[in-house]
Amino acid sequence: MQYLQVRHYVLPQLGLGTFELQGKEASNLTEMALSMGYRHIDTAQMYGNETQVGTAIRRSSVDRDDLWITTKVWHTELAEGRFLPSVQASLDRLGLDYVDLLLIHWPSEEVSVEEAVMGLMQAQDREYCRAIGVSNFPKAYVETALEMGAEIITNQVEYHPLLDQRELLYYLVENKMSLTAYSPLGQGHVLNDPTIKDIAANYGKSPAQIALRWLIEQDEVLALPRSTNPRHLRSNLDVFNFRLSQEDKLALDMLSEQNRRIVNPDFAPEWD
Ligand code: A2P
Repeated sequence: MQYLQVRHYVLPQLGLGTFELQGKEASNLTEMALSMGYRHIDTAQMYGNETQVGTAIRRSSVDRDDLWITTKVWHTELAEGRFLPSVQASLDRLGLDYVDLLLIHWPSEEVSVEEAVMGLMQAQDREYCRAIGVSNFPKAYVETALEMGAEIITNQVEYHPLLDQRELLYYLVENKMSLTAYSPLGQGHVLNDPTIKDIAANYGKSPAQIALRWLIEQDEVLALPRSTNPRHLRSNLDVFNFRLSQEDKLALDMLSEQNRRIVNPDFAPEWD
């Protein structure tokens, strides 16, 4: 595993995304991922699998201190009076005293960024979490959080070679934050791109490994690939023993001209 330091936190740069994993499959795959060497697990209230992720953590032999566990507060729980009880409920489901990272999952149209970030800061004060961050936040909202004195360490957003996130990434890096890439394989779309396939063939790697390598070669980027297939889980972790040439990196950079955003629900904010 490769680690990234963000402020005074050290995060495993590659994590397991658990969106859509349910029931026994969620606990079994998470436990399997931990046994393969995954140390960073990303869940959320909305995924409905915090209990199963907690079960997998308890079943695995990995020390709690060696794990980086993230959960996220859903946008219906952001108001004062709802935020902290919802985080306590997450901890109960996970069976943990704290999570390593607590995120606001999406900004809300009903609750102001200030009110939501206040909840996040209170959760940190109460040691429900070590670090705090946001997800699906445009630059202006992150700025509001920073102005409030919140020590945001990451903004978790969709990011893969087919989506141009340069503006947001530069902003985050300038302000000593990281970008955590969800849907790093574009939910599978990246894997059929002809340029990525050609590059993959030249390295004897899979298209998924090339896309993940491109992400983690960016110094402030973490990636959370998802898979229900043990073979894919294992190969997605096997991306630390090769480097992309400058020429291939540039060819991959160029793909963002397609600017394909896959996750864009009705309640999404106006993106940068
Ligand atoms: P599967 O569960 O069959 O592995 P993202 O992480 O961008 O959301 O993408 C998830 C999708 O990518 C899932 O459909 C998953 O399918 C697929 N996937 C994940 N890893 C690989 C891989 N190494 N090779 C092929 N498909 C993969």
